[in-house]
Amino acid sequence: MKSPYIPQNAPYNDIQKAWLGGFFAGMHSHMLQSADAANQKDARIINILYGTQTGNSESVANDAANVAKAHGLLPHVKSMDEISIQQLAEMEYLLIVTSTYGEGEMPDNAQMLWDAASEDNAPSMAKVKYSVLALGDTSYDQFCKAGIEWDERLAELGAERLYQRIDCDVDFEDPAENWISSVIPLMADGAATTVVLDSSAASDKPAYNRKNPFPAKMLVNRLLTAENSSKETRHYEISLEGSDLSYEAGDALCVAPTNCPELVAAIVKALSCTGEEIEPVADEAMSLSESLRTHFEIKLPSKELIEEIAKRSGDQELNTILENGDKEQLADYMWGRDTLDLLLQFPDVEFSAAEFIALLKPLQHRAYSISSSGKMHPESVHLTVASVRYNSYNRDHKGVCSTYLADLVDDNSDVRIFFTPNKSFRVPDDNNLPMIMVGPGTGIAPFRAFLQEREFRNAPGQNWLFFGDRNAATDYIYQEELESMQEKGVLNRLDLAFSRDQEEKIYVQDKMREHGAEIFAWLEQGGYFFVCGDAYRMAKDVDKALFDIIAEHGNKSAVETADYLNALKKEKRYVRDVY
Ligand SMILES: Cc1cc2nc3c(=O)[nH]c(=O)nc-3n(C[C@H](O)[C@H](O)[C@H](O)COP(=O)(O)OP(=O)(O)OC[C@H]3O[C@@H](n4cnc5c(N)ncnc54)[C@H](O)[C@@H]3O)c2cc1C
Ligand SMILES: NC(=O)c1ccc[n+]([C@@H]2O[C@H](COP(=O)([O-])OP(=O)(O)OC[C@H]3O[C@@H](n4cnc5c(N)ncnc54)[C@H](OP(=O)(O)O)[C@@H]3O)[C@@H](O)[C@H]2O)c1
Ligand SMILES: Cc1cc2nc3c(=O)[nH]c(=O)nc-3n(C[C@H](O)[C@H](O)[C@H](O)COP(=O)(O)O)c2cc1C
Repeated sequence: MKSPYIPQNAPYNDIQKAWLGGFFAGMHSHMLQSADAANQKDARIINILYGTQTGNSESVANDAANVAKAHGLLPHVKSMDEISIQQLAEMEYLLIVTSTYGEGEMPDNAQMLWDAASEDNAPSMAKVKYSVLALGDTSYDQFCKAGIEWDERLAELGAERLYQRIDCDVDFEDPAENWISSVIPLMADGAATTVVLDSSAASDKPAYNRKNPFPAKMLVNRLLTAENSSKETRHYEISLEGSDLSYEAGDALCVAPTNCPELVAAIVKALSCTGEEIEPVADEAMSLSESLRTHFEIKLPSKELIEEIAKRSGDQELNTILENGDKEQLADYMWGRDTLDLLLQFPDVEFSAAEFIALLKPLQHRAYSISSSGKMHPESVHLTVASVRYNSYNRDHKGVCSTYLADLVDDNSDVRIFFTPNKSFRVPDDNNLPMIMVGPGTGIAPFRAFLQEREFRNAPGQNWLFFGDRNAATDYIYQEELESMQEKGVLNRLDLAFSRDQEEKIYVQDKMREHGAEIFAWLEQGGYFFVCGDAYRMAKDVDKALFDIIAEHGNKSAVETADYLNALKKEKRYVRDVY
């Protein structure tokens, strides 16, 4: 795996490093004495802005704030949609922590500020001293693009880069910790008095996280789609007993899967290994088979593995694609092919066990939008998951996590989980405000949770759901529940779009357009507009439909419509949970 970019000349004081290492490592066990250094009247303000979709950047921003406080600084942590470009230009000390989404895009909460910063007439940032931490994933073509763009744009606008950007891959914790422990002392220079540790930091941290998931019991694993459906969507209920964990409707649950043993065996065979080869993995001696099952991503090949196979095979087609650097061509070539397909395609390419695992990325958790309300179901958490199964290159392929879940027996199987909060994606505090929810396919998940939440709260606000899937007869998931919610008056409007029941596709955005006047009226009443599901096609088309509806029924110009939408986003009344 490519390591995150860490500058060679990073100023790094060994003592700070040792202390900060202890600070992070000991967060839970090592409670530290609080003295509110930040209240000192001469404390230097450090602005820490985060751009996030699923909370990682926010959590790093909070870690940075805790370390800043410990250095006698006064951290102001803010979501990027909470400040204007003028406020940004006035910030003297600035840290930006941002992830990248979609295809190299800003996370939703960073987009507006980024648009303003990209304008030709954006204000000078000459007062600003800054550093950027970019979160991303090297398996995406546009690795850490949002962070890179912020870093470059701030410099272009005259800001002083106090410390070089660090780009983090999926294992972001260690490089983030390095960045914090390097940049905060720089920002504190002269301003810091004594380092005072903050006890509240320990309690902010969730007990279970990516590195320490909770081993939960699978209670229910039920097929939602019909047996004869063209897809498989399942409902899961996972016990929280013994965890002390709680969640809010709108949060996501992350599941740490293990790989399919049959796929492990097939890869071991393709490598001409036995599986018993012992290799060091995460400071442990482990057999090849065990490490492939539990530690490495073995379905989707890393770029490094593809490059090495191209090099060792000398295959002209693959080498030409790689030399051209055409990412789309590479994506087309790889579509439907997994690691095993590549090994089978080039049987003459040989790897030792050690060489092979050195080219793999760590196995990652997968996130799922929670489909239950934590108030109605405090003892369990529900998921709605489409199992990824397809046939290509003459083999059946299975998605790692969705089929790991599907294969778990719903009677006490262990599943390792942790929560990621999504603080923007929430049922409105004001129970009277209307909610419009657009969630085709598995996008329905958080809206089942939202409806439960409204029912639990006995909220009088109106609820409107746009749902769709392929065929009504086989894919109308949660039909009975939705109908029962309609009868109870919890779900006031339901519009359905089954795409494959007729020749012409009908999608949720077509249903939205049919009822554009009412959608606009609900928005005018202070309504919230939520979208969940596919980011690449559906969410973009729904966004376009919403724009058109506001323009037409609000009688607005394109600029006025964009302003209206931006205001909705700023008030967190147009929020998305898309993937
Ligand atoms: C915030 C968030 C919330 C989410 N919520 C949900 C949810 O509520 N429900 C849900 O089901 N998912 C949800 N997802 C998606 C989920 O995290 C996983 O991405 C999904 O379950 C697939 O993971 P997997 O491990 O099964 O598949 P992987 O092993 O990751 O394989 C998926 C890959 O297989 C390949 N592939 C898939 N289909 C085909 C095909 N037909 N032909 C060729 N190649 C193909 C593609 O390369 C694809 O990227 C969410 C994602 C995020 C980020
Ligand atoms: N980023 C990702 O990796 C990602 C994103 C979303 C889903 N998925 C995966 O895909 C599988 C199925 O997902 P799913 O059940 O959520 O959804 P889905 O099966 O992809 O789609 C649900 C419905 O949305 C329709 N649809 C297709 N294009 C649309 C568009 N442009 N606008 C509006 N609706 C559109 C589909 O119609 P037709 O199919 O008939 O066109 C179908 O009726 C899952 O494994 C899921 O994890 C992956
Ligand atoms: C749908 C989706 C798209 C993503 N696109 C990119 C991308 O284009 N480039 C990248 O480097 N990382 C990408 N990522 C990875 C995220 O940036 C990474 O998971 C990050 O840790 C998320 O941080 P956050 O929780 O603060 O949003 C993507 C992740 C998802 C789920």
